[in-house]
Amino acid sequence: MLDILHNIIADPSDKGSLVWDQEKRVVHNPRLGLDYPFLNGFFHLTKQNAIQSKFLGSEARYEGLAEWYDSIMQDQNNRGELANSAYSILKSLLGKGEGIVLDIGCGTGLAADITKELGYTPIGVDLSKDQLRIAAKRLPVVLGDSADLPISDHSVCLAYSTFTTTDWENLERSAKEIYRVLSPGGRYVDIGVHPCFYGAYSEPLSQGEILQKPGYNQSQFVEPNLLKGTVRSKVGAWHRPVSDVINTFLSAGFKLVRVVEGGQGELPQLLALSLLKE
Ligand SMILES: C[S@@+](CC[C@H](N)C(=O)[O-])C[C@H]1O[C@@H](n2cnc3c(N)ncnc32)[C@H](O)[C@@H]1O
Repeated sequence: MLDILHNIIADPSDKGSLVWDQEKRVVHNPRLGLDYPFLNGFFHLTKQNAIQSKFLGSEARYEGLAEWYDSIMQDQNNRGELANSAYSILKSLLGKGEGIVLDIGCGTGLAADITKELGYTPIGVDLSKDQLRIAAKRLPVVLGDSADLPISDHSVCLAYSTFTTTDWENLERSAKEIYRVLSPGGRYVDIGVHPCFYGAYSEPLSQGEILQKPGYNQSQFVEPNLLKGTVRSKVGAWHRPVSDVINTFLSAGFKLVRVVEGGQGELPQLLALSLLKE
């Protein structure tokens, strides 16, 4: 597998909100300060332009955590159990198939084995070049923003994301971008922690009970120092009520096909949505 990605599927005249520079033959992402050279029919992200990218404060949250993140997400005494539950729901919602599947906010690429096992060719997109350094050992990756995907309109049939609705700054724009890059009939599976029972406004008590605290109804970013979770106490979290998450995808044009609530506890820790672009 190549070191850091070499990207996919983009036609320079058809690229969402990225800016095509005809003279330099690059596609420019103004937000990230990133240029994707266009070669042989594809955008390419080279190591050099990955390094040049300018991260805004909030986008650098995962920088420097990659090794640690990768290990706790596989440690059954830490976040491993939750991650396995999410990937097992992912497996059942995706089903077997073939062709490219986009893993948006792929992190260190921990879901890649599942999708390969199902028959797909996963390609990861993430905003953190540190996370991608590890992910690149598991799947081809591209440095990119869910809210500005460097991918052509209608170019993939399948996409998914795990544990990211609590990270994406702009869920509305991300949902629209995912809708844009999917072909008609394309599917998107989103799996995240369950906003009702897990996160800023739900405090686990003994014997599986959960204390609900005020604040649930409002979508807002909760700073790391206010959170107790292993990952969230380092990176913070976007709290979004269930209705906001679902309605954001519906407003982007998706049809909701199936909802799964899962995880190991008595109360669901995970919320999974299977969505269709008709
Ligand atoms: C909790 S991690 C989840 C990683 C992976 N999906 C998993 O299952 O382990 C959230 C990831 O989303 C990435 N991320 C945050 N904002 C993003 C954005 N706007 N576009 C793409 N990736 C983003 C972070 O860099 C991080 O790797």
